Formats: sequence, C-alpha cells, structure tokens
Amino acid sequence: MRNNSLRIAVLVSGSGSNLQALIDAQKQDYFLSEIKIVISNKADSFALKRAEDAGIKTYVIKDNKDLRKLLIENDIDLIVLAGYLKIVSEEILEEYENRIINIHPSLLPKYGGRGMYGINVHRAVFESGDKESGATVHKVTNVIDGGEIIMQNKTDISDCKSAEEIQKKVLKIEHQILKNAIKIMESNYKI
Ligand code: GAR
Repeated sequence: MRNNSLRIAVLVSGSGSNLQALIDAQKQDYFLSEIKIVISNKADSFALKRAEDAGIKTYVIKDNKDLRKLLIENDIDLIVLAGYLKIVSEEILEEYENRIINIHPSLLPKYGGRGMYGINVHRAVFESGDKESGATVHKVTNVIDGGEIIMQNKTDISDCKSAEEIQKKVLKIEHQILKNAIKIMESNYKI
C-alpha cells in the first residue's frame, strides 16, 4: 500500500521521551510524515524544550476550543497523544475520527481506563504479579483507552523489583512501537 506523508501534531504533558523517539525517527527518515507542531497543556512540560531544540513550533494550550482551532489552522492530518494527560473533547474526536492515536503503557485492555496513566499503571501491574507487561498504540475514541489497537508489544518483567523498573522496560517498548504506528497510519490514510 502507498504511504502518505502526514502533517502530525504531537500532544504532550510531561517529559516527552516518546516525543523524542519520534523526533529521532523523523531525523532518520524512519517515516515520511512530519511533526509540524507540539502542544502541551502544561507550560513546564520538558517535552516543549525537546521540540524547541528540534526546531518544531510549540504551543501551550489548555482550552479544547483553542486546541481544535490550532489543529485545523495547521492543516493537521494525524494527532499523536504522547503522554498527553488531558481528555480530548467530543468536537475534536468527531473532527479527527480515526486520526488520533495514543500510546498507553500497558497491554490493553488490561490496566486501561480512568486513573490508569503513567506510574499508576505500572504500580497496578507490579501489585498484580503479572510476569509480562508492554505498551499499546490505539486509536482514540470516547471510551478511555478503548479504541482499536494499532500496535502492541510485550516485555518480560519477571525480574522487575519495582513499578519504576517496569516503567523503564515498558518505555523502551513505547519508543519502538510509536514510530511503527506512524508508518501504519501512513499506509492506511485515505486522502
Ligand atoms: C508514557 O509512559 C505514556 O505511555 C504514558 O505517559 C508516559 C509519558 O512519558 N501515557 C499514559 O499513561 C496515557 N494513559 P513521556 O512524556 O516520557 O513520553
């Protein structure tokens, strides 16, 4: 299938290691698409610095109406939620149906839903005694962490002694699968 070059907006709230993985992949021409803008709902997000260092335009936006306007003005094709911890509005979900993806640090449908983000996920996994965990890239719908799975990968965590150790292992998986998910979205995108 033919691949398309998509205009990407990456939405972030935190440290932005997943954003960095995408920036690095873009530099190596791993995918055809281009990260046009990076938007954070938090002014102190380290991800903003990563984007600025890579010469990508950044915005701090808290209001969903302003966010929708900015996405449309920039002619964005694909929205990537990379550690974005705010709920996306119904209007944006409608406008960008099938064109918003999210990276989640567990093997969905396990450990998804409200309150399951960041280290909370890894704590729940650690307490469960599961021997494996992983990460999932999925389409975003109005069901939290419930949209179609695009990519998922596992890792053995039987040697992990804490939630933080699991987090470290899972982040490596995230950085791999997110860039691959962009390729999948490129090949499925209908112009
Ligand atoms: C990542 O582990 C991502 O999967 C998680 O936040 C972290 C952000 O890290 N997202 C969620 O939990 C969403 N439910 P990063 O800022 O270093 O990319």
